This record gives sequence, structure tokens and C-alpha cells, in this order.
Amino acid sequence: MAQKQKVSYVCDNCGYDSIRWYGQCPSCKTWDSLKEFKEAPVSAAPAVSFSRTKNSPKSIDSIDTADELRFGTGFSELDRVLGGGAVRGSIVLIGGEPGIGKSTLMLQICRCLSGCGDVLYASGEESQRQIKLRADRLEVKGKNISVLAETNLDLILDATTELKPAFLIVDSVQTVYRPSVGAAPGNVTQIKECTMALLRMAKDTGTVVFIVGHVNKDGEIAGPKILEHMVDCVLYFEGEKQNAYRILRAAKNRFGSTNEIGVFEMKDKGLEEILNPSEAMLAGRPSGVPGTCITAVMEGTRPILAEVQALVAKSAFGNPRRMASGVDYNRAVLLLAVLETRAGLLLGGSDAYVNVIGGLKIDEPAADLATVIALASSFRDLPVVPDTLAIGEVGLTGELRRVHALEQRIAEAARMKFKRCICPYYGTSGIRAPEGMELIRVHSIPQALSAAFNA
Ligand code: TYD
Ligand code: MG
Repeated sequence: MAQKQKVSYVCDNCGYDSIRWYGQCPSCKTWDSLKEFKEAPVSAAPAVSFSRTKNSPKSIDSIDTADELRFGTGFSELDRVLGGGAVRGSIVLIGGEPGIGKSTLMLQICRCLSGCGDVLYASGEESQRQIKLRADRLEVKGKNISVLAETNLDLILDATTELKPAFLIVDSVQTVYRPSVGAAPGNVTQIKECTMALLRMAKDTGTVVFIVGHVNKDGEIAGPKILEHMVDCVLYFEGEKQNAYRILRAAKNRFGSTNEIGVFEMKDKGLEEILNPSEAMLAGRPSGVPGTCITAVMEGTRPILAEVQALVAKSAFGNPRRMASGVDYNRAVLLLAVLETRAGLLLGGSDAYVNVIGGLKIDEPAADLATVIALASSFRDLPVVPDTLAIGEVGLTGELRRVHALEQRIAEAARMKFKRCICPYYGTSGIRAPEGMELIRVHSIPQALSAAFNA
């Protein structure tokens, strides 16, 4: 007798699981996010099963990690985000908006991966011909790169059993389905079951699986959060379409840090990695104009110079507009209030816009000082002294606070030929400025502003 399917309701947003339906998720309070989820009956056994070896507890010292094999993807930027290459048997999810370059990146890494083993690129979005045309443009070729245009995951898994590839790429998880699961592709049930089957296959055979996932309007991978819980690594490919720069960021990584970013540029022959992001972020920088200031932010272990721009304009309406892109909106509003109260700049009747160039998203307080200086520079219509950068966290009393890794930031600025660095007084006494760099140690915002506008 056929077994009855168990039905539950799973939240699209947070993965909350319930036996009854609610209009609002009791856990994350999102409306209309609970979707019916039919668990596959036992008869629909996975195409590949877990090996049933008995696991017994082991002393942590005796566990051998020498077989943790990592494979280079050919992009040192991607390898760093992955924590030093793709780990054997791991499952990596790559999310991003449509057209950002996920398929391009996946196809490009095939070239290098094929040097370590067979690669199977399974696409539910493009035909074999389309993939071949794109591969030709990207100059990706090799006998051991196989392409499969298929949406039935069971057939993809059959192909992996036959081919035994070392790498499997599934583009995208929203287009594949398992016939045994009675739900449409892209549905929560399908996404969960498909990822589960891929996970079993990866752990069972040691295949490295890359899964492409689309993001929804909130910028999260469409489908339940549980998808992110299941995989080993979640990477987001970000950037603006108008801008050629693409930033790859790890949101979760079981094999490395999540602080690292990789910077790429979309060219006519595919993605190219940017090994000197500071140079890319500062390219085309205007000099001698008001409303811009350079800072150095840490992205993981790497300092990157970034340009913060601000525009302060007289407000046409009663309610001044504030906008922030690349820095947190609330942080920008707070810095405006500090500038007004502690430095006496009457910004209350002005619109203020803050933007970080190059699509970089800064979530570090170390960029506070540059934001404040850029705002003051625009307000006073005075350019910052050339070759100056500013690093420091701003406190509510207008004081400057120390930031971590200041020496590394200053070294990067010196490498990029900057000559003056405005930094907090405290925590910098032991730092020796590199040759040609003048350290201007200041206590407060008024001091910092005076140093920024007067050489
Ligand atoms: P794609 O990888 O198809 O995006 P996704 O899979 O994330 O939806 O990227 C497509 C975009 O990249 C498209 O707008 C064209 C551009 N592109 C280039 O500029 N150069 C290239 O060599 C390729 C292959 C794509
Ligand atoms: Mg694609």
C-alpha cells in the first residue's frame, strides 16, 4: 500500500516548519511565506544513498585531515573566498541576481577544474548549443568537460553515477526537479529535496558540487533558508549591472572565513579577477573637487582603498532627503547629526547623499571619518588636500576612536602613493609611518576637518 505523504508547512524566509498553515510565520513574522511541503514518501528513495558505515567516536588528535583535498578553481579570488580552494566532497551554493555572471563564472572555472578531474556542467536554463557558444567565447574547452542540458535531477544524478565526475555544476537549483516529488520546479519542496539528493551524492562520492541559486527581491536565495543550512558554503555574487565590477562574498563557509571578498570585472571575454582592488576602486577618481574622501577598509585579511563621495545640497522641500549607498543609512544619518552638533555644520536644512564608488559595501566604522570629511567637504565646497586619506571610527561626542589593523591599511595607502593619513590619536603611537607618508593623529572631528582641508 502506498504510504501517505506527510504534509507540513515551511516558511520561505526562515525555514520554520509547522504542521498547520499560518498567514504570518510565527518565527520570523513574514506574511504569506508558509508554503505547503510534501515530504517524499519512502518509496521515492534517493538515487544515491549514504554509505552505512558505522561511525564511532574518535579522539580529536587522531582524526586525519591530510585527505582534505582542495582544488584550485583558476581564480585566486574565488579560491580565497572559498578558504583556499574547493574542498573535496563539499557543496557550494552561488547566489546572485539574474545576469550578474553566475553561469559565466561557473563555466570559466571548468577550465581549471578540468585539470584536476572530470567536470559535468548540468544546466536547466540553457541548451547544450547555447552553453557551447558561451564556452567558445570564454575559451573554455577540454575533453573532460561534459555538458548536460537537463532539468530532471534524477537523470543528472544518473549521469554522475556513470561519468563519476570530480566536479558537478548544477545551474540552477530553481530549475531542477525530482519526478518523485509531486511539486513544480522552484517550489520549496523541490528545492529542498534536490539539494538533499545532491548533498548525499557529494558526501557519498566526494564530488565537489557547485549549485547556482537565484535570489529573490530581498537579495536572499529564493527558496527556504534551510537551503543555506544544508550546504557547506554560500557565496553571493554582487554588483550593479551598470558597473563592470562584481564582488563575490561568502555568507557562510564551513571551510574558511566569511570575511573574504573576491573582486571581478565583467569583460567581453568573461570575468577577470582584479588582483589590485584598490587601484580599481580609485580609478577615474576626480582630484581637487569637493565632496570626496578616500579611506581604507579591511575586507577579510586584505585592506582595500575606497572612495566615499557625498553631496550636500540645499533642500527644496521642508523635509531634507538623506540617501546612503554602500554605507549603512542609519550610520550616515548618525554621522550627519554628529557633524551638526560637534562640528557646528548646519546640515539640518540640506539634502545629503552618500555613496561608495565601485559597488563596494562598507560595514566598518573605520570609514566613518572619511564619510564625515566627504560631507563636510561638500557642505563647505572645499576639496580635501590631495593624496590624503582618512581612517577612524567617529564616536557620538565627536571623538575619534581607534580601528583594528591600522598598520595594514596605512601600508596599502602608502603602496598606492598616498602621502597623508588622518587617523585617530589613540592606538597609533607605536605605528611608524612608511616612507613618504605623514601620519596626522587627531583627537576630534574639528581637528580632523582642519587637517583635511589645510595642508
Ligand atoms: P550570466 O553568467 O548569464 O548571468 P547569470 O547566470 O548570473 O544570470 O551573465 C550574463 C551577463 O554577463 C550578460 O548580461 C552578458 C554578460 N557577459 C559579458 O559581458 N561577457 C561575457 O563574456 C559573458 C559570457 C557574459
Ligand atoms: Mg545563468
